[in-house]
Amino acid sequence: MSEVTRFTHGSRIPGWDQSTDPSKPAAAIPDPATTTVPEELRAAIEAEIAKYPERRSALIPALHHAQEHHGWCSPEAIEQVACVMRLTPGEVAAVVTFYDMFESKPVGKNTIYVCTNISCSLNGGDRILAAMRDAAGDDPDFNIRGFECLGACDMAPMASINGEYVGPLTDEDCNQVIAQLTAGETPLPAKQLSLRPCADAAGRTGGDGQ
Ligand code: FES
Repeated sequence: MSEVTRFTHGSRIPGWDQSTDPSKPAAAIPDPATTTVPEELRAAIEAEIAKYPERRSALIPALHHAQEHHGWCSPEAIEQVACVMRLTPGEVAAVVTFYDMFESKPVGKNTIYVCTNISCSLNGGDRILAAMRDAAGDDPDFNIRGFECLGACDMAPMASINGEYVGPLTDEDCNQVIAQLTAGETPLPAKQLSLRPCADAAGRTGGDGQ
């Protein structure tokens, strides 16, 4: 639940300050005969690969599946994705460490990204982040981070809660979000973007079906 570390030169990439041995041969593409991949994960990755002309184009959705399966992009998860995608672990790890939404360390199962970029910040985003952290306390089930613009400025201040966009948020909402997630309930359904009423019948996705 700690904030993403920013080093003095701005990098958030783990391992940037660790030396490597360039004479060491790079890890090869994992051998499918010796790499165990959970069947469900393999099927999900293959389904993503089928959507693109180039296998490697499916790497980001494949990593989402692996993160969902393992809880984070562990070395084992990276090995499995590399095996199915026919990439080296190094190529996969490079993408994991580039994108903020991929976790390269174990984290709590509930991920809350509170936007603290300009529109949200002007509407109290930093206060919401602090309130969310206060509400969660030391509960290891929560991974709460400040995040750059999530592209939903019209609902500022907002957060991505386990992948669902929710907003505009108030300080009081934060206690409710934590309580609902702890109870296994949908957090603030009335404020979820995907559950908003939609005028276009073809665009209706569920929720209350409106
Ligand atoms: S600034 Fe928060 S969603 Fe854009």
